[in-house]
Amino acid sequence: MNRTDTGQDDQPAPGAVVVGAGIIGLACAWELHRAGVPVAVVDRAGPGSETTAVAAGMLAPVGELDFGEADLLAMNLRSAGQYPEFVASIERCCGGVVGYRRCGGIHVALDRDEAGELKRSHELKLRMGQASEWLGPATAREIEPGLAPGLAGAIRVPGDGVVDPRVLTSALVEALESERVPILTGRAVESLGRSGGRVAAVGLEGGAEIEADVVVVAAGAESGRAEWLPDDVRPPVRPVKGQVVELKGDPERPLCSGILGSERVYLVPRPDGRLIVGATSEELGFDRTVTAGGVYDLLREAGRLLPDVVELEYLGARAGLRPGTPDNLPLIGPTAVPGLYLATGHYRNGILLAPFTARAIAGMVTGETTDEPVAAADPRRFEPSVSGTP
Ligand code: GLY
Repeated sequence: MNRTDTGQDDQPAPGAVVVGAGIIGLACAWELHRAGVPVAVVDRAGPGSETTAVAAGMLAPVGELDFGEADLLAMNLRSAGQYPEFVASIERCCGGVVGYRRCGGIHVALDRDEAGELKRSHELKLRMGQASEWLGPATAREIEPGLAPGLAGAIRVPGDGVVDPRVLTSALVEALESERVPILTGRAVESLGRSGGRVAAVGLEGGAEIEADVVVVAAGAESGRAEWLPDDVRPPVRPVKGQVVELKGDPERPLCSGILGSERVYLVPRPDGRLIVGATSEELGFDRTVTAGGVYDLLREAGRLLPDVVELEYLGARAGLRPGTPDNLPLIGPTAVPGLYLATGHYRNGILLAPFTARAIAGMVTGETTDEPVAAADPRRFEPSVSGTP
C-alpha cells in the first residue's frame, strides 16, 4: 500500500490492512480512515456477509446485562453512547439513513419462576446504576398491547436501541468507497509478512501481497483458526452458533414498537415490517446449519411472548457464528507482534461494540490517548508470557 506523508516530523503515516469486512472490520477501517491512516480492507467473502448479516442488531447494554459483567457493561455503554455520532458520520458520506433507533426494550416474565429471575436482573441493573423500571402486566400491555395476556411481570429498559446490521454494512461500504478506501473481497489472507519482528505485509491467496505496518484482525469467529497468525498471538476465539428467524408483517401495524425479550427469545422490529426472532446459542464448532429444532424453538417462544407472530409471513432463517472468548470479553488492542492488533471476540455484542472497538483501535494505531474503558479487552491477557500458561 502506498503510504502518505502526514507532514508531522517527516514520519510517514502507518498503512493499515484490516482483515475482515464484517461490521467490526468495516467500522475499524472507517475510524482509521477518519483518523488519517491509509487503510485497506480484505475479506475472503463479501462485506458483512457472515455473522453481521445474521445479527438482529440489538444495541442493548442494559437489557442484555448479566451478572459479573461490569467491564463489558462499561464498554457497551460507551459504545451505545458513541452510536449517534458514528452513524451520523457514515450517513454524511453514504447519502442514506442507517435506521438507528433508540426505541427501548421490554423484557417479560411469562410465569412466576421467570418473574423471580427477572426481578434479580432488574435489581442488578439498578445496582449498576442503569435505568430499569418494573412494570405490572397491565402497564406492560399498555405499552406493548400485543404481549401475551398471562404475563407475570416485565421491566422496561428505556435506553436500549436497534440498528439493521445489513443496512449499516451497506452504508459503511458506500461511505468507505466514497472516500476511496479499498475493500478487497473474495481474497483470503494466507500469510503475515514481518520485517525485524514487526508487521510488514499481508499475503493473499493467489500470491499478491499488500504492504502494511499495521494489521488489524477483525475476522470474527474465524480469527481463532487463522493459520496465518503466529501461534502465540492467535486468539482463543470459538464459534457460538446463533440461529434467527425473519418474519414480515404490515409496517403500518407493527406487532411491537421496540425490543421485546423473554428468558428464551428476543424480538427486534424493523421499520419495513420485518420482525427478527433470535437467537439460539449452540456450541457446535463451525456449523452454520439452520435446523428445524432451532426454528421451532424460536417460533414457539416468540408465540408465547407475542401471540400474533403466528400470523406473520415467514421469510426465512439464518445461522451465524458469534466469536466467543473464555471470559466473554472482546479482544481489542495490540499483540506481542508489533503492528498486529486484534479486534475480535465480541461474542454477543459485535454490532453494539463496533463504534467503541473502531475508536479504540484507531486511537491505539495513531498513538492518541483516549479514555476508552478498553483495558479489560487487552488481547495480551491470553498470551502465554502474560498469563504464565504454556
Ligand atoms: N446479542 C444477541 C445475540 O448474540 O444473540
